[in-house]
Parts: sequence; structure tokens; C-alpha cells
Amino acid sequence: MNELMKLIDKLELQGSLTYEEYVMLLSNNSQELRDYAALKAVSIKEKYYSNKVFVRGLIEFSNYCKNDCYYCGIRNGNHNCDRYRLSQDEIFECCRQGYDFGYRTFVFQSGEDPYYSDERICNIVSSIKSEYPDVAITLSIGEKSIDSYKAFKKAGADRYLLRHETCNEDHYSKLHPQNMSGTNRKQCLNNLKSLGFQVGAGIMVGSPYQTKENIAEDLIFLKELNPHMVGIGPFISHKDTPFADMPNGTLEDTLLLLSLIRIMLPDVLLPSTTALGTINPRGREMGLMAGANVVMPNLSPVKVRQKYSLYDNKICTGEEAAECVDCLKKRVELTGNIIVTDRGDSPRK
Ligand code: 5AD
Ligand code: FES
Repeated sequence: MNELMKLIDKLELQGSLTYEEYVMLLSNNSQELRDYAALKAVSIKEKYYSNKVFVRGLIEFSNYCKNDCYYCGIRNGNHNCDRYRLSQDEIFECCRQGYDFGYRTFVFQSGEDPYYSDERICNIVSSIKSEYPDVAITLSIGEKSIDSYKAFKKAGADRYLLRHETCNEDHYSKLHPQNMSGTNRKQCLNNLKSLGFQVGAGIMVGSPYQTKENIAEDLIFLKELNPHMVGIGPFISHKDTPFADMPNGTLEDTLLLLSLIRIMLPDVLLPSTTALGTINPRGREMGLMAGANVVMPNLSPVKVRQKYSLYDNKICTGEEAAECVDCLKKRVELTGNIIVTDRGDSPRK
């Protein structure tokens, strides 16, 4: 057994590695290493979740955004972006459809859209909760004050996704304009945790200027934060952003990282993302075989799908919700797993 595989064993035994050890693994990514890491990752995933894969119905309810993140297709500065907002009725209709598919978790995602005041968000959350008391609601609407988060919690939100993007300040400043800071992002995550949300953090793999050292820092940060969920996917360039000509992240790096994250945080809820399915037609299946255990079919109305374009060539933009649900179910089954539609809460207490 080679040195790198021994590091994987050590990660499994101790739950963490040193910065240098992570850098060593990330710098020596190979098919052999990925296979070894995936074998461990999948057996850990099976120990906690057997062959279950959880589904979360994703509803992208607004692509307005006040931020100007350099990587993102719905950034404020992109004047080619055709903006939309779903009405409360339309959001409800998406949930109704999802509920009929058996789905018991919905993720409400949007840009940072000031139109959706705390009051509007709380209204949406509490009315869905009163109609469907057995669903879990996840919000993914960006950086807010602790008071806003408190209000969302009180209204009935259960979970919150907020990728930290990178925990290195210098790298953060290369991805975001000056008015945004990694420190605030991390503060938000801590606030959300302290309020009792199930929290998800994460990064884009291969984002511009990202180094292996940056990713090692991210892994150390994730271990310390110990989130219930981790969302990672490859960076994919968008033609109308400052990063239009930057290279995409790779399938291989994303797969290795999925496995490392599963080994490091054994009971984590780890989606195999749409971005992974976009850089490779079988990307999501490969993600599941690398240790991921969540998929997020898109329930947004078809008429807005193409408009929620964070990156180019996003998949599933032409399909009706029912088609995505069906397609994803088949894909999951091809990996030897089964779709589970219940709330799929984190087993952690
Ligand atoms: N490529 C891949 N992922 C992206 N995101 C935003 N823009 C891109 C892109 N160009 C991710 C960010 C954000 C999440 C909602 O989508 O990590 O947190
Ligand atoms: Fe959307 Fe396959 S999951 S079309």
C-alpha cells in the first residue's frame, strides 16, 4: 500500500489530517487514489445510511441578486440576465407538485433579493409549514443578520445552506467584490448553527485562483464547523461574468473531495450536485459512487429554469419537474441505491 492510501486510512481512523497531508492527497489525485478513497467513503456512507439517497426538491424562486460575485451568472452586474420572481402562488404550486411526488423536503433558493423582506420569507415558510406540517424547509438565500435568521427559524425553517466558498480571505477577495467578506460569511454560518438550524457549508471545486492549499484549509474549516450538510460542485464558467474565460473545475477533483469529505464527516448529508452532472453526463451517478447521498431535483417551473443560470450549460433546464424526478430516480437506482423521499434529517443530534 502506498503512502497516499495510508493517509486515507489515517483520515478514516482519526477523522482528520494535517494541512500538509491534505495538500499531499490533493496534489496526487489519481484514479487509483480516487478508487481507494471511494471504497472507504461508500462503506462509511452505507454504515450510516445503507443504500438510501435522499431527495430535496429545489425551488429557485428568484434570480434577482444584489451581489456581484465574479463567478456567478445571476450577479447584479450581468445585464444579460433575464430576471424573474415566482409569486407565492407559484412557489406553492411547486411544493404541491413535489408533495405529490412524496417529497418531504424543499429547498428555497434565490439570489440575495431585497424584494423578499424577512416578512415575505417568513410568510412563505409559515404558510407552507401550516399546509404541510410534515415537510422540512431549507433556505438558501444568502447572508442575513442574526435577527433575520432568528425570524426564519421562528417561522418554521429547519435548515440553511450557505456555502462559505473559500475560507482563505485572500482567495475570497479574488472571487468577490470588496464589500463582501469571508469573515462575515463564516459569522453567518456560526449564527445559523447557534440558532439550531441544520447547516450546510461548502465550496466550488476549481474556482479561479484556488490552490490545493486553499482546499486543505477548507477541509480543516469544515471539520471544525462540523456542518450537517456540505455542498460542493465544480466551478463552471458563465459567459457573462468576469470569469468567462476561466477553466472549469474537474470531475476528478470533485470526486476525490466528495470521498474525503465523507470519510472526514461520516454522517454528513452530501449532495451529488447539478454542477457535477453538468460537467459530465454521468457526474451525479459518479458522485453517489464516491460517497454522496443526496440529490436535488429541480422543481422550479420550466418557464424560469433557464433563467436561473449560475453557470453555462446547466442541465435539467428543459425538463418538467416530473421528468427530472423520474430521470433522477433511474439514475440513482443505476448506482445500486434507492431514493428515499422522507425528510431525511441529519442523524446527528
Ligand atoms: N459554477 C459553479 N457553481 C457556482 N455557484 C455560483 N456560481 C457558480 C459557477 N459559476 C455556486 C456557489 C453558490 C451556489 C448556490 O452555487 O457555490 O454558493
Ligand atoms: Fe433533470 Fe435528469 S435529473 S433531466
